[in-house]
Amino acid sequence: MLKIAVLVSGGGTNLQAVIDAIDNGTITNAEITAVISNNKNAFALERARNSGINAISISPKDFENRDLFNDALIKTVGESGADLIILAGFLVVLPKKMTENYENRIINIHPSLIPSFCGKGFYGLKVHEEVLKRGVKVTGATCHFVDSGTDTGPIILQKAVDVYEGDTPEVLQRRVMEQAEWIILPKAVNLIANGKIHVEDGRVITVA
Ligand code: GRF
Repeated sequence: MLKIAVLVSGGGTNLQAVIDAIDNGTITNAEITAVISNNKNAFALERARNSGINAISISPKDFENRDLFNDALIKTVGESGADLIILAGFLVVLPKKMTENYENRIINIHPSLIPSFCGKGFYGLKVHEEVLKRGVKVTGATCHFVDSGTDTGPIILQKAVDVYEGDTPEVLQRRVMEQAEWIILPKAVNLIANGKIHVEDGRVITVA
């Protein structure tokens, strides 16, 4: 059984998609052992509690400096016993030690088709604002492994979503979530939980 820690900062709709997929059997061989947030008011923590999952908040504000916070975060994740870490809207840059310790065992969901509209500063509504500004007709979401760069790790799954005339960033964000993020994140978790993928030369290979 794959043990998962989900790291969140906000609403937690992607967390919910994973919880639901485990409940309804779309994801097998996996359980969430902890939901960890840097923001004690994150609704995602409420979602975890509602599902009887250990919900932990750990804020940088409670530590004298970043290093101490990073150490505490690493310790908390370690104590969850997680084999896999999911970044589901986690707005904290991970300590280098963590990306090294968990090589190809941390995944992120990003709301664009990487390598477009990603990297430093591309998070939240900003991504969709830039998509609309550029006038691309297709956007989407990407689930990828996390390395020490920003949105640079091996790509696991992607799904395209149409952009329509008159879209606002908020409308597009919702469509990308519904049609892509909430689908490919659980799918990727299920592939990992069942040993269906591995990384070779920086690329994800799917085993039949
Ligand atoms: C999503 O758009 C995800 O792609 C990004 O952060 C947002 C999190 O939303 N990484 P939620 O907290 O899962 O609702």
